[in-house]
Amino acid sequence: MKKNVVLLGPPGAGKGTLAQRLASELGYLHLSTGDVLRDEVARGTELGRLAKEYMDKGELVPDEVILSMVKEHVGDRRGVLFDGFPRTLAQAEGLAGIAPVDVVVYLEIGRDEVVRRLSARRVCPKCGAVYNLVTQPPKEDERCDRCGEALVQRRDDTPEVISRRFEVYLRDSAPLVKYYEEKGILVRVDAARSPEEVLADVLRALRNDCP
Ligand code: AP5
Repeated sequence: MKKNVVLLGPPGAGKGTLAQRLASELGYLHLSTGDVLRDEVARGTELGRLAKEYMDKGELVPDEVILSMVKEHVGDRRGVLFDGFPRTLAQAEGLAGIAPVDVVVYLEIGRDEVVRRLSARRVCPKCGAVYNLVTQPPKEDERCDRCGEALVQRRDDTPEVISRRFEVYLRDSAPLVKYYEEKGILVRVDAARSPEEVLADVLRALRNDCP
């Protein structure tokens, strides 16, 4: 049976990059709460206007808003890759009432490396592809390989906001490591390696039915 998998880790750990590859490898649904929120912001919806105020500062959008958004997207599906959710204990408890979690992949990585990665991240505003000017550069100068659109830097990838996002992660999200470890479903993965090595480890863990 398809599993529901939570990808946990600090900003810039590579959750989105890994989720895109896992989704295509396994045929799972990639649900990134950050991507859903950015889409709402781009469309100028009421939710987007509310979320933008928090996102631009690197703060978390309120739990109840996130939980109702996730519930709507998940329905009764199985085989969901939760990227950037849950991010608080209240969200983790809320998720338990929406869908069972089978495995939590914790991407372990230090602060210096995530700051390096986020400072060099570029994204395609049209198709959502993620690049890195150092580690995964586009073929043509700052243009998307897939659709040719000019790449942009995310609004929250400035040094001040990166720093705030990291503090918020340590305060609100890091306690989830212990929460899921105690449930016996957490797998630790060294995320300070190439995307290929990280993907191979995670696929092995999921296929071996770890933990
Ligand atoms: P969100 O979009 O979830 O951002 P995040 O958690 O800060 O994570 P990122 O998307 O920055 O990083 P990532 O781990 O996905 O790394 P990536 O693969 O891109 O959230 C943004 C905001 O939305 C939050 O601040 C909050 O306001 C709000 N929000 C979202 N969810 C919420 C929730 N549940 N509750 C409340 N608020 C919420 O990789 C980063 C870079 O590194 C890229 O350039 C990539 O190319 C590169 N890279 C990736 N892997 C590797 C590797 N193995 N080696 C070298 N480079 C790599």
